[in-house]
Amino acid sequence: MIISGKELSAQLKAEMAAQVAEFPEKYGRVPHLVVILVGDNPASVSYVTGKAKASELVGIRNTTLRKPETISEAELLDIIRDLNADDTVDGILVQLPLPKHISESKVIETISKEKDVDGFHPLNVAALWQKEECILPCTPKGIIKMLKAAGVEIKGRRAVVIGRSNIVGLPVAKLLLDENATVTIAHSRTENLPELTRQAEILVVAIGRPKFVTGDMVSEGTVVIDVGVNRDPETGKLCGDVDFSAIEPKASVITPVPGGVGPMTICCLMENTIECFLRKR
Ligand code: GUN
Repeated sequence: MIISGKELSAQLKAEMAAQVAEFPEKYGRVPHLVVILVGDNPASVSYVTGKAKASELVGIRNTTLRKPETISEAELLDIIRDLNADDTVDGILVQLPLPKHISESKVIETISKEKDVDGFHPLNVAALWQKEECILPCTPKGIIKMLKAAGVEIKGRRAVVIGRSNIVGLPVAKLLLDENATVTIAHSRTENLPELTRQAEILVVAIGRPKFVTGDMVSEGTVVIDVGVNRDPETGKLCGDVDFSAIEPKASVITPVPGGVGPMTICCLMENTIECFLRKR
């Protein structure tokens, strides 16, 4: 079974749109998300455009601030501080990566924890690992939603996560653990990786290498979640971290790239923006 993140996210966005439609009467306004894009990296431009489109669909007010590559760190931090202080702004997202002269961690730490719709702020990360109320990072949250919607039982299953980034690998492993899976976190250089991945009942791959996971690395019946967004070096087309055509016949459930995890990430960003808006009320 191929899980369509596109379909599931469309359904969830329609539900959110119905919810948001009642906000002007209930609360006097709709949620407001501000997205900051520094420079003109094509992938970032495309992500930011997707976020604006989803906002429009859901009825969330979206302001996208485009700043030149040459903006100073101090200037960017001042913009964020102004947005923190602005009561009409509920969510702030700075698209990553940033130019080298700007510290990503300083930027993330400057965004108010209450408006951190990405769930990247150290206080949100700490709250997640301490099982306190927090804003969940969008991609891991979207993955768990997809698994549940596909009827995948997580409890008691052996999960292997390849990737240990702050954005995906580590938090998705934590969320799987919270659902009572037994989780192993691996990376691209883990010794005997195929031996490990063949034991996985749920395999999440988030390393950003085209077709890194080959057919021989996956057992029959595995649930495969592909977080990679890469260019296939042969065809130039978008592809994931798993060799889809080799693994799809073996997997019980698999997410495609594009159209799998990506749309769910944006969908959860919309949900987080609504959550930040409602928490203030
Ligand atoms: N760049 C790639 N993915 C993301 C994301 O989820 N949030 C932000 N802010 N930047 C990104």
